Amino acid sequence: MERTYKAITELILQAKNKRREKQSGADSIDPIFDQMRGIDWPIKCTVGPGLEGAIACKSRVGFVNGSEGSLIYRGYDIFDLCAYSSFEEVSYLLLYGELPNDRDLASFTSRLREYRFMPNTLRMMMSAPVESLNPMAALRIGTNFMHQRKTWRDRECAKPPLEDAIASDEDSIPMETPPRGEKRAIYEFRRPHLDRPRAERPALDDAESMESCMHLIAGMATLAAAIGRLRRGRLPIEPDPELSHAANLLYMMTGRRPTPMEERAMDVALILHADHGMNASTFACLVVASTMSDIYFSVDAGIGALNGPLHGGANELVTKMLREIGSPDNVPSWYRKARESGKKIPGFGHRVYKTYDPRAEVLAPLAGMLAETNPNCAKMLLTARGLEEMVVAEMGENKKIFPNVDLHSGIIYHALGVPEDLYTVLFAVSRVSGWTARVMEYLENNRIFRPRSLYVGEFNREYVPLENR
Ligand SMILES: CC(C)(COP(=O)(O)OP(=O)(O)OC[C@H]1O[C@@H](n2cnc3c(N)ncnc32)[C@H](O)[C@@H]1OP(=O)(O)O)[C@@H](O)C(=O)NCCC(=O)NCCS
Repeated sequence: MERTYKAITELILQAKNKRREKQSGADSIDPIFDQMRGIDWPIKCTVGPGLEGAIACKSRVGFVNGSEGSLIYRGYDIFDLCAYSSFEEVSYLLLYGELPNDRDLASFTSRLREYRFMPNTLRMMMSAPVESLNPMAALRIGTNFMHQRKTWRDRECAKPPLEDAIASDEDSIPMETPPRGEKRAIYEFRRPHLDRPRAERPALDDAESMESCMHLIAGMATLAAAIGRLRRGRLPIEPDPELSHAANLLYMMTGRRPTPMEERAMDVALILHADHGMNASTFACLVVASTMSDIYFSVDAGIGALNGPLHGGANELVTKMLREIGSPDNVPSWYRKARESGKKIPGFGHRVYKTYDPRAEVLAPLAGMLAETNPNCAKMLLTARGLEEMVVAEMGENKKIFPNVDLHSGIIYHALGVPEDLYTVLFAVSRVSGWTARVMEYLENNRIFRPRSLYVGEFNREYVPLENR
Protein backbone atom coordinates (compact mmCIF):
# COMPACT_ATOMS: atom_id res chain seq x y z
CA MET A 1 0.00 0.00 0.00
CA GLU A 2 2.80 2.36 1.02
CA ARG A 3 4.61 1.62 -2.26
CA THR A 4 1.56 2.39 -4.39
CA TYR A 5 0.96 5.62 -2.50
CA LYS A 6 4.56 6.69 -3.01
CA ALA A 7 4.53 5.75 -6.70
CA ILE A 8 1.44 7.89 -7.36
CA THR A 9 2.82 10.77 -5.29
CA GLU A 10 6.03 10.55 -7.30
CA LEU A 11 4.11 10.62 -10.56
CA ILE A 12 2.15 13.73 -9.50
CA LEU A 13 5.31 15.53 -8.39
CA GLN A 14 6.91 14.72 -11.74
CA ALA A 15 3.89 16.26 -13.46
CA LYS A 16 4.28 19.31 -11.24
CA ASN A 17 7.97 19.67 -12.15
CA LYS A 18 7.21 19.29 -15.83
CA ARG A 19 4.63 22.03 -15.54
CA ARG A 20 7.08 24.32 -13.75
CA GLU A 21 9.67 23.81 -16.43
CA LYS A 22 7.12 24.86 -19.03
CA GLN A 23 6.16 28.00 -17.15
CA SER A 24 8.51 30.86 -17.67
CA GLY A 25 7.88 32.57 -14.31
CA ALA A 26 7.19 29.52 -12.18
CA ASP A 27 5.78 31.41 -9.18
CA SER A 28 4.18 34.23 -11.08
CA ILE A 29 0.61 35.24 -10.46
CA ASP A 30 -1.59 36.31 -13.34
CA PRO A 31 -1.12 40.11 -13.76
CA ILE A 32 -4.89 40.49 -14.04
CA PHE A 33 -5.21 38.88 -10.63
CA ASP A 34 -2.77 41.40 -9.15
CA GLN A 35 -4.71 44.28 -10.67
CA MET A 36 -7.93 42.88 -9.25
CA ARG A 37 -6.74 42.55 -5.67
CA GLY A 38 -7.31 46.11 -4.57
CA ILE A 39 -10.45 46.99 -6.45
CA ASP A 40 -13.92 47.26 -5.06
CA TRP A 41 -17.50 47.50 -6.25
CA PRO A 42 -18.68 48.69 -8.65
CA ILE A 43 -16.14 46.88 -10.81
CA LYS A 44 -15.66 47.95 -14.40
CA CYS A 45 -15.05 45.09 -16.80
CA THR A 46 -15.77 44.09 -20.35
CA VAL A 47 -18.65 41.66 -20.58
CA GLY A 48 -19.36 39.33 -23.47
CA PRO A 49 -22.41 37.17 -24.21
CA GLY A 50 -23.01 34.53 -21.55
CA LEU A 51 -21.54 36.98 -19.02
CA GLU A 52 -18.08 36.17 -20.36
CA GLY A 53 -15.60 38.40 -18.57
CA ALA A 54 -18.14 39.57 -15.98
CA ILE A 55 -17.08 39.48 -12.34
CA ALA A 56 -19.94 38.11 -10.28
CA CYS A 57 -18.37 38.17 -6.81
CA LYS A 58 -15.12 38.05 -4.89
CA SER A 59 -13.90 34.68 -3.73
CA ARG A 60 -11.10 33.17 -1.68
CA VAL A 61 -12.06 29.58 -2.47
CA GLY A 62 -10.01 28.94 -5.58
CA PHE A 63 -8.36 30.43 -8.61
CA VAL A 64 -7.81 29.24 -12.18
CA ASN A 65 -4.94 30.85 -14.05
CA GLY A 66 -5.83 30.14 -17.64
CA SER A 67 -2.77 31.54 -19.32
CA GLU A 68 -0.31 29.84 -17.00
CA GLY A 69 -2.36 26.66 -16.63
CA SER A 70 -2.50 26.56 -12.86
CA LEU A 71 -5.23 25.82 -10.38
CA ILE A 72 -5.26 26.61 -6.68
CA TYR A 73 -7.67 25.83 -3.86
CA ARG A 74 -7.48 28.30 -0.97
CA GLY A 75 -3.94 29.24 -2.02
CA TYR A 76 -2.65 25.66 -2.34
CA ASP A 77 -1.41 24.33 -5.67
CA ILE A 78 -3.54 21.51 -7.04
CA PHE A 79 -0.42 19.40 -7.69
CA ASP A 80 0.52 19.56 -3.98
CA LEU A 81 -3.01 18.77 -2.87
CA CYS A 82 -3.10 15.75 -5.18
CA ALA A 83 0.33 14.61 -4.05
CA TYR A 84 -0.13 14.91 -0.29
CA SER A 85 -3.79 15.35 0.57
CA SER A 86 -7.09 13.46 0.46
CA PHE A 87 -10.57 14.37 -0.78
CA GLU A 88 -11.77 14.64 2.84
CA GLU A 89 -8.97 17.09 3.68
CA VAL A 90 -9.53 19.08 0.49
CA SER A 91 -13.28 19.33 1.16
CA TYR A 92 -12.53 20.64 4.64
CA LEU A 93 -10.05 23.12 3.17
CA LEU A 94 -12.56 24.39 0.62
CA LEU A 95 -15.31 24.77 3.20
CA TYR A 96 -13.34 26.23 6.10
CA GLY A 97 -10.44 27.94 4.32
CA GLU A 98 -7.66 26.17 6.25
CA LEU A 99 -6.13 22.71 6.21
CA PRO A 100 -7.52 20.72 9.14
CA ASN A 101 -5.41 19.60 12.09
CA ASP A 102 -5.66 15.98 13.28
CA ARG A 103 -8.66 16.62 15.48
CA ASP A 104 -10.56 18.68 12.90
CA LEU A 105 -9.96 16.08 10.23
CA ALA A 106 -11.04 13.23 12.51
CA SER A 107 -14.26 15.01 13.38
CA PHE A 108 -14.95 16.01 9.75
CA THR A 109 -14.27 12.45 8.57
CA SER A 110 -16.55 11.07 11.22
CA ARG A 111 -19.36 13.41 10.08
CA LEU A 112 -18.92 12.20 6.52
CA ARG A 113 -18.92 8.60 7.73
CA GLU A 114 -22.21 9.18 9.50
CA TYR A 115 -23.85 11.07 6.62
CA ARG A 116 -22.77 8.54 4.01
CA PHE A 117 -25.29 6.20 5.57
CA MET A 118 -28.72 7.23 4.19
CA PRO A 119 -31.24 4.41 4.61
CA ASN A 120 -34.32 6.60 4.26
CA THR A 121 -33.11 8.41 1.19
CA LEU A 122 -32.13 5.13 -0.45
CA ARG A 123 -35.49 3.62 0.38
CA MET A 124 -37.12 6.56 -1.40
CA MET A 125 -34.73 6.15 -4.33
CA MET A 126 -35.75 2.53 -4.62
CA SER A 127 -39.35 3.61 -5.05
CA ALA A 128 -38.38 5.83 -8.02
CA PRO A 129 -37.90 4.48 -11.56
CA VAL A 130 -34.14 5.08 -11.39
CA GLU A 131 -33.43 2.50 -14.11
CA SER A 132 -35.33 4.54 -16.69
CA LEU A 133 -34.01 7.94 -15.64
CA ASN A 134 -31.01 9.88 -16.84
CA PRO A 135 -28.46 9.26 -14.03
CA MET A 136 -28.01 13.00 -13.47
CA ALA A 137 -31.79 13.38 -13.18
CA ALA A 138 -31.73 10.56 -10.63
CA LEU A 139 -29.00 12.40 -8.76
CA ARG A 140 -31.15 15.51 -8.66
CA ILE A 141 -34.06 13.51 -7.33
CA GLY A 142 -31.77 11.93 -4.78
CA THR A 143 -30.50 15.26 -3.48
CA ASN A 144 -34.11 16.34 -3.17
CA PHE A 145 -34.89 13.21 -1.20
CA MET A 146 -32.00 14.17 1.08
CA HIS A 147 -33.52 17.55 1.45
CA GLN A 148 -34.04 19.28 4.77
CA ARG A 149 -35.87 17.28 7.38
CA LYS A 150 -35.29 14.05 5.53
CA THR A 151 -31.69 14.73 6.34
CA TRP A 152 -32.34 14.42 10.01
CA ARG A 153 -34.52 11.39 9.65
CA ASP A 154 -31.66 9.67 7.88
CA ARG A 155 -29.39 10.61 10.72
CA GLU A 156 -31.81 9.34 13.29
CA CYS A 157 -32.19 6.09 11.42
CA ALA A 158 -28.46 5.70 11.20
CA LYS A 159 -27.81 6.23 14.85
CA PRO A 160 -30.67 6.98 17.21
CA PRO A 161 -29.16 9.15 19.93
CA LEU A 162 -30.01 7.88 23.36
CA GLU A 163 -30.72 11.29 24.84
CA ASP A 164 -33.24 11.96 22.08
CA ALA A 165 -35.08 8.78 22.95
CA ILE A 166 -35.32 9.91 26.58
CA ALA A 167 -36.36 13.39 25.52
CA SER A 168 -39.13 12.13 23.31
CA ASP A 169 -40.29 9.76 26.00
CA GLU A 170 -40.46 12.50 28.60
CA ASP A 171 -41.55 15.32 26.43
CA SER A 172 -43.57 13.83 23.64
CA ILE A 173 -46.85 14.08 25.49
CA PRO A 174 -47.07 17.83 25.68
CA MET A 175 -46.31 18.27 21.93
CA GLU A 176 -49.03 20.88 21.66
CA THR A 177 -48.29 22.40 25.04
CA PRO A 178 -44.82 23.88 24.92
CA PRO A 179 -42.93 22.47 27.91
CA ARG A 180 -41.28 24.68 30.53
CA GLY A 181 -42.91 27.79 29.11
CA GLU A 182 -40.99 27.55 25.85
CA LYS A 183 -42.73 28.90 22.77
CA ARG A 184 -41.77 25.77 20.93
CA ALA A 185 -41.02 22.17 21.74
CA ILE A 186 -37.26 22.16 22.24
CA TYR A 187 -37.00 18.40 22.07
CA GLU A 188 -38.25 18.22 18.53
CA PHE A 189 -35.03 18.16 16.55
CA ARG A 190 -32.71 19.73 19.13
CA ARG A 191 -32.04 22.38 16.53
CA PRO A 192 -33.99 25.43 17.57
CA HIS A 193 -33.14 27.52 14.52
CA LEU A 194 -34.93 25.06 12.24
CA ASP A 195 -38.24 26.25 13.50
CA ARG A 196 -37.51 29.92 13.30
CA PRO A 197 -38.81 31.76 10.26
CA ARG A 198 -36.21 31.59 7.49
CA ALA A 199 -35.36 35.27 7.63
CA GLU A 200 -34.38 34.93 11.28
CA ARG A 201 -32.14 31.95 10.72
CA PRO A 202 -28.44 32.63 10.63
CA ALA A 203 -27.37 32.25 7.02
CA LEU A 204 -23.81 31.34 7.76
CA ASP A 205 -21.71 29.87 10.55
CA ASP A 206 -24.88 28.04 11.19
CA ALA A 207 -24.48 24.41 12.08
CA GLU A 208 -27.40 23.56 9.86
CA SER A 209 -25.72 24.96 6.76
CA MET A 210 -22.31 23.44 7.41
CA GLU A 211 -23.91 20.17 8.43
CA SER A 212 -25.91 20.23 5.20
CA CYS A 213 -22.71 20.80 3.21
CA MET A 214 -21.15 17.74 4.83
CA HIS A 215 -24.37 15.81 4.37
CA LEU A 216 -24.32 16.60 0.65
CA ILE A 217 -20.60 15.86 0.23
CA ALA A 218 -20.95 12.48 1.92
CA GLY A 219 -24.43 11.62 0.69
CA MET A 220 -23.94 12.29 -3.00
CA ALA A 221 -21.33 9.51 -3.11
CA THR A 222 -23.87 7.12 -1.63
CA LEU A 223 -26.46 8.31 -4.13
CA ALA A 224 -24.10 7.96 -7.10
CA ALA A 225 -23.28 4.38 -6.20
CA ALA A 226 -26.93 3.53 -5.54
CA ILE A 227 -27.98 5.04 -8.88
CA GLY A 228 -25.38 2.91 -10.68
CA ARG A 229 -26.61 -0.24 -8.98
CA LEU A 230 -30.35 0.45 -9.23
CA ARG A 231 -29.97 1.14 -12.94
CA ARG A 232 -28.60 -2.37 -13.27
CA GLY A 233 -31.29 -3.99 -11.18
CA ARG A 234 -29.04 -4.39 -8.15
CA LEU A 235 -29.59 -3.37 -4.57
CA PRO A 236 -27.55 -0.50 -3.11
CA ILE A 237 -24.65 -1.44 -0.86
CA GLU A 238 -24.23 0.15 2.55
CA PRO A 239 -21.07 2.18 3.09
CA ASP A 240 -18.22 0.60 5.00
CA PRO A 241 -17.31 2.85 7.95
CA GLU A 242 -13.71 1.64 7.79
CA LEU A 243 -13.15 2.95 4.26
CA SER A 244 -12.19 6.41 3.02
CA HIS A 245 -14.55 8.50 0.90
CA ALA A 246 -12.87 7.44 -2.35
CA ALA A 247 -12.73 3.77 -1.36
CA ASN A 248 -16.34 3.82 -0.20
CA LEU A 249 -17.47 5.35 -3.46
CA LEU A 250 -15.86 2.52 -5.44
CA TYR A 251 -16.95 -0.13 -2.95
CA MET A 252 -20.59 0.98 -2.95
CA MET A 253 -20.54 1.11 -6.74
CA THR A 254 -18.83 -2.18 -7.52
CA GLY A 255 -19.34 -4.25 -4.37
CA ARG A 256 -15.59 -4.86 -4.23
CA ARG A 257 -13.15 -3.15 -1.86
CA PRO A 258 -10.70 -1.32 -4.13
CA THR A 259 -6.97 -1.94 -4.24
CA PRO A 260 -4.74 0.83 -2.76
CA MET A 261 -3.93 1.98 -6.30
CA GLU A 262 -7.60 2.19 -7.28
CA GLU A 263 -8.47 4.02 -4.08
CA ARG A 264 -5.70 6.57 -4.58
CA ALA A 265 -6.55 7.08 -8.26
CA MET A 266 -10.19 7.74 -7.32
CA ASP A 267 -9.10 10.07 -4.54
CA VAL A 268 -6.87 12.09 -6.90
CA ALA A 269 -9.68 12.32 -9.47
CA LEU A 270 -12.05 13.57 -6.75
CA ILE A 271 -9.56 16.21 -5.60
CA LEU A 272 -8.97 17.42 -9.14
CA HIS A 273 -12.67 17.94 -9.84
CA ALA A 274 -13.58 19.52 -6.51
CA ASP A 275 -13.53 23.17 -7.55
CA HIS A 276 -12.89 25.23 -10.64
CA GLY A 277 -13.59 28.93 -10.39
CA MET A 278 -16.84 30.48 -11.54
CA ASN A 279 -17.83 27.73 -13.94
CA ALA A 280 -21.40 27.33 -15.19
CA SER A 281 -22.55 24.86 -12.53
CA THR A 282 -20.99 26.83 -9.67
CA PHE A 283 -22.65 29.95 -10.98
CA ALA A 284 -25.98 28.09 -11.18
CA CYS A 285 -25.58 27.08 -7.51
CA LEU A 286 -24.85 30.66 -6.50
CA VAL A 287 -27.81 32.05 -8.43
CA VAL A 288 -30.18 29.73 -6.59
CA ALA A 289 -28.52 30.35 -3.22
CA SER A 290 -28.71 34.11 -3.76
CA THR A 291 -32.50 33.97 -3.62
CA MET A 292 -32.12 32.60 -0.07
CA SER A 293 -33.33 29.26 -1.25
CA ASP A 294 -31.22 26.55 0.40
CA ILE A 295 -28.10 24.58 -0.21
CA TYR A 296 -29.93 21.45 -1.44
CA PHE A 297 -31.77 23.42 -4.11
CA SER A 298 -28.53 25.18 -4.97
CA VAL A 299 -26.67 21.92 -5.50
CA ASP A 300 -29.65 20.65 -7.44
CA ALA A 301 -29.20 23.56 -9.88
CA GLY A 302 -25.47 22.80 -10.12
CA ILE A 303 -26.20 19.19 -11.08
CA GLY A 304 -28.51 20.37 -13.87
CA ALA A 305 -25.89 22.73 -15.28
CA LEU A 306 -23.10 20.16 -14.98
CA ASN A 307 -25.06 17.66 -17.05
CA GLY A 308 -24.47 19.52 -20.34
CA PRO A 309 -21.94 18.22 -22.89
CA LEU A 310 -20.08 21.54 -22.85
CA HIS A 311 -19.47 21.13 -19.13
CA GLY A 312 -19.45 17.89 -17.11
CA GLY A 313 -21.02 15.75 -19.80
CA ALA A 314 -17.84 15.78 -21.88
CA ASN A 315 -16.09 12.93 -20.03
CA GLU A 316 -18.74 10.46 -21.14
CA LEU A 317 -18.50 11.72 -24.71
CA VAL A 318 -14.74 11.19 -24.65
CA THR A 319 -14.95 7.47 -23.90
CA LYS A 320 -17.74 7.07 -26.45
CA MET A 321 -15.53 8.83 -29.01
CA LEU A 322 -12.49 6.69 -28.13
CA ARG A 323 -14.56 3.56 -28.58
CA GLU A 324 -15.89 4.87 -31.88
CA ILE A 325 -12.32 5.54 -33.10
CA GLY A 326 -11.51 2.00 -32.02
CA SER A 327 -7.72 1.96 -32.18
CA PRO A 328 -4.74 4.30 -32.49
CA ASP A 329 -4.43 3.39 -36.19
CA ASN A 330 -7.83 4.86 -36.95
CA VAL A 331 -7.06 8.23 -35.35
CA PRO A 332 -5.84 10.12 -38.47
CA SER A 333 -8.85 9.26 -40.63
CA TRP A 334 -11.33 9.84 -37.78
CA TYR A 335 -9.71 13.14 -36.93
CA ARG A 336 -9.79 14.39 -40.52
CA LYS A 337 -13.48 13.58 -40.83
CA ALA A 338 -14.25 15.25 -37.50
CA ARG A 339 -12.44 18.41 -38.52
CA GLU A 340 -14.13 18.50 -41.91
CA SER A 341 -17.52 18.25 -40.27
CA GLY A 342 -16.60 21.17 -37.97
CA LYS A 343 -17.20 18.98 -34.94
CA LYS A 344 -15.72 20.02 -31.59
CA ILE A 345 -13.65 17.20 -30.21
CA PRO A 346 -14.61 16.31 -26.64
CA GLY A 347 -11.76 16.41 -24.13
CA PHE A 348 -10.07 19.38 -25.81
CA GLY A 349 -10.34 23.13 -25.44
CA HIS A 350 -11.36 25.22 -22.50
CA ARG A 351 -12.96 28.58 -21.91
CA VAL A 352 -10.29 29.57 -19.38
CA TYR A 353 -7.18 27.46 -20.06
CA LYS A 354 -5.29 28.54 -23.10
CA THR A 355 -2.58 25.99 -22.40
CA TYR A 356 -2.55 22.46 -20.94
CA ASP A 357 -5.13 21.99 -18.23
CA PRO A 358 -3.11 21.12 -15.09
CA ARG A 359 -5.72 18.51 -14.16
CA ALA A 360 -5.07 16.74 -17.45
CA GLU A 361 -1.36 16.77 -16.63
CA VAL A 362 -2.03 14.75 -13.49
CA LEU A 363 -4.66 12.47 -14.96
CA ALA A 364 -2.66 11.55 -18.10
CA PRO A 365 0.20 9.78 -16.23
CA LEU A 366 -2.29 8.35 -13.73
CA ALA A 367 -4.23 6.80 -16.60
CA GLY A 368 -0.89 5.48 -17.89
CA MET A 369 -0.22 3.78 -14.57
CA LEU A 370 -3.66 2.15 -14.45
CA ALA A 371 -3.37 1.09 -18.09
CA GLU A 372 -0.30 -1.01 -17.25
CA THR A 373 -2.59 -3.65 -15.75
CA ASN A 374 -5.66 -3.08 -17.91
CA PRO A 375 -5.31 -3.87 -21.65
CA ASN A 376 -8.69 -2.41 -22.59
CA CYS A 377 -7.81 0.82 -20.91
CA ALA A 378 -4.35 0.75 -22.52
CA LYS A 379 -5.90 0.75 -25.99
CA MET A 380 -8.12 3.69 -25.12
CA LEU A 381 -5.17 5.55 -23.72
CA LEU A 382 -3.07 5.01 -26.84
CA THR A 383 -5.97 6.23 -28.97
CA ALA A 384 -6.31 9.32 -26.77
CA ARG A 385 -2.57 9.98 -27.07
CA GLY A 386 -2.76 9.73 -30.86
CA LEU A 387 -5.65 12.13 -30.91
CA GLU A 388 -3.87 14.52 -28.57
CA GLU A 389 -0.87 14.62 -30.90
CA MET A 390 -3.04 15.56 -33.88
CA VAL A 391 -5.17 18.13 -32.04
CA VAL A 392 -2.21 19.85 -30.43
CA ALA A 393 -0.19 19.87 -33.66
CA GLU A 394 -2.99 21.54 -35.58
CA MET A 395 -4.76 23.65 -32.97
CA GLY A 396 -2.36 23.94 -30.01
CA GLU A 397 -0.31 27.04 -30.73
CA ASN A 398 -2.70 28.17 -33.40
CA LYS A 399 -6.00 28.19 -31.48
CA LYS A 400 -4.84 27.39 -27.95
CA ILE A 401 -6.73 24.11 -27.94
CA PHE A 402 -5.14 21.56 -25.58
CA PRO A 403 -6.36 18.51 -23.64
CA ASN A 404 -8.71 19.31 -20.78
CA VAL A 405 -9.60 17.35 -17.65
CA ASP A 406 -12.12 15.19 -19.48
CA LEU A 407 -9.69 13.59 -21.90
CA HIS A 408 -8.33 11.17 -19.31
CA SER A 409 -10.89 11.11 -16.50
CA GLY A 410 -13.16 8.72 -18.41
CA ILE A 411 -10.26 6.36 -19.12
CA ILE A 412 -9.44 6.32 -15.41
CA TYR A 413 -13.04 5.66 -14.40
CA HIS A 414 -13.16 2.90 -16.99
CA ALA A 415 -10.08 1.30 -15.45
CA LEU A 416 -11.68 1.58 -12.00
CA GLY A 417 -14.76 -0.30 -13.17
CA VAL A 418 -17.10 2.70 -13.02
CA PRO A 419 -19.97 2.32 -15.51
CA GLU A 420 -19.88 4.96 -18.26
CA ASP A 421 -23.29 6.39 -17.39
CA LEU A 422 -21.90 7.45 -14.02
CA TYR A 423 -18.95 9.53 -15.22
CA THR A 424 -20.77 12.84 -15.09
CA VAL A 425 -22.41 11.80 -11.82
CA LEU A 426 -18.90 11.30 -10.39
CA PHE A 427 -17.99 14.79 -11.49
CA ALA A 428 -20.88 16.08 -9.37
CA VAL A 429 -19.89 13.88 -6.43
CA SER A 430 -16.57 15.67 -6.41
CA ARG A 431 -17.66 19.19 -7.40
CA VAL A 432 -20.19 19.33 -4.57
CA SER A 433 -17.30 20.38 -2.27
CA GLY A 434 -16.58 23.45 -4.37
CA TRP A 435 -20.26 24.23 -4.89
CA THR A 436 -21.06 24.17 -1.19
CA ALA A 437 -17.89 26.09 -0.23
CA ARG A 438 -18.66 28.83 -2.72
CA VAL A 439 -22.34 29.05 -1.74
CA MET A 440 -21.37 29.44 1.91
CA GLU A 441 -18.86 32.12 0.99
CA TYR A 442 -21.30 33.96 -1.26
CA LEU A 443 -23.97 34.06 1.42
CA GLU A 444 -21.64 36.04 3.67
CA ASN A 445 -22.39 39.07 1.51
CA ASN A 446 -25.40 37.83 -0.34
CA ARG A 447 -26.91 39.84 -3.14
CA ILE A 448 -29.55 38.30 -5.36
CA PHE A 449 -28.26 37.81 -8.92
CA ARG A 450 -30.01 40.02 -11.41
CA PRO A 451 -28.11 40.68 -14.63
CA ARG A 452 -29.90 42.36 -17.50
CA SER A 453 -30.60 41.23 -21.02
CA LEU A 454 -30.27 43.57 -23.94
CA TYR A 455 -33.76 43.95 -25.40
CA VAL A 456 -33.48 43.90 -29.18
CA GLY A 457 -37.15 43.21 -29.88
CA GLU A 458 -39.86 45.49 -31.17
CA PHE A 459 -42.00 48.11 -29.41
CA ASN A 460 -45.53 49.42 -29.92
CA ARG A 461 -46.85 46.48 -31.90
CA GLU A 462 -50.56 46.56 -32.42
CA TYR A 463 -52.46 43.58 -31.02
CA VAL A 464 -54.21 41.66 -33.82
CA PRO A 465 -57.24 39.60 -32.76
CA LEU A 466 -56.93 35.86 -33.35
CA GLU A 467 -59.51 35.79 -36.16
CA ASN A 468 -57.55 38.40 -38.12
CA ARG A 469 -54.12 36.71 -38.00
C1 LIG B 1 -14.93 23.86 -23.62
C2 LIG B 1 -15.42 24.71 -24.79
C3 LIG B 1 -16.94 24.80 -24.71
C4 LIG B 1 -14.80 26.09 -24.70
O1 LIG B 1 -15.36 26.83 -25.67
P1 LIG B 1 -15.03 28.36 -25.98
O2 LIG B 1 -14.08 28.94 -25.04
O3 LIG B 1 -16.34 28.99 -26.13
O4 LIG B 1 -14.28 28.24 -27.32
P2 LIG B 1 -14.97 28.43 -28.69
O5 LIG B 1 -16.10 27.47 -28.80
O6 LIG B 1 -15.26 29.87 -28.89
O7 LIG B 1 -13.81 27.98 -29.66
C5 LIG B 1 -12.79 28.79 -30.14
C6 LIG B 1 -12.27 28.15 -31.41
O8 LIG B 1 -11.67 26.89 -31.09
C7 LIG B 1 -12.38 25.83 -31.71
N1 LIG B 1 -12.53 24.76 -30.72
C8 LIG B 1 -12.76 24.90 -29.42
N2 LIG B 1 -12.82 23.69 -28.83
C9 LIG B 1 -12.62 22.79 -29.80
C10 LIG B 1 -12.58 21.39 -29.83
N3 LIG B 1 -12.77 20.68 -28.71
N4 LIG B 1 -12.38 20.77 -30.99
C11 LIG B 1 -12.18 21.47 -32.12
N5 LIG B 1 -12.20 22.81 -32.16
C12 LIG B 1 -12.42 23.47 -31.02
C13 LIG B 1 -13.74 26.39 -32.07
O9 LIG B 1 -14.31 25.70 -33.14
C14 LIG B 1 -13.39 27.81 -32.39
O10 LIG B 1 -12.83 27.82 -33.67
P3 LIG B 1 -13.09 29.06 -34.69
O11 LIG B 1 -12.43 30.23 -34.03
O12 LIG B 1 -12.47 28.63 -35.94
O13 LIG B 1 -14.58 29.21 -34.76
C15 LIG B 1 -15.00 24.07 -26.13
O14 LIG B 1 -13.61 24.03 -26.21
C16 LIG B 1 -15.60 22.69 -26.34
O15 LIG B 1 -16.74 22.57 -26.74
N6 LIG B 1 -14.79 21.61 -26.06
C17 LIG B 1 -15.28 20.27 -26.23
C18 LIG B 1 -16.14 19.85 -25.06
C19 LIG B 1 -15.34 19.64 -23.80
O16 LIG B 1 -14.35 18.94 -23.77
N7 LIG B 1 -15.81 20.26 -22.70
C20 LIG B 1 -15.20 20.10 -21.39
C21 LIG B 1 -14.57 21.35 -20.93
S1 LIG B 1 -13.74 21.06 -19.41
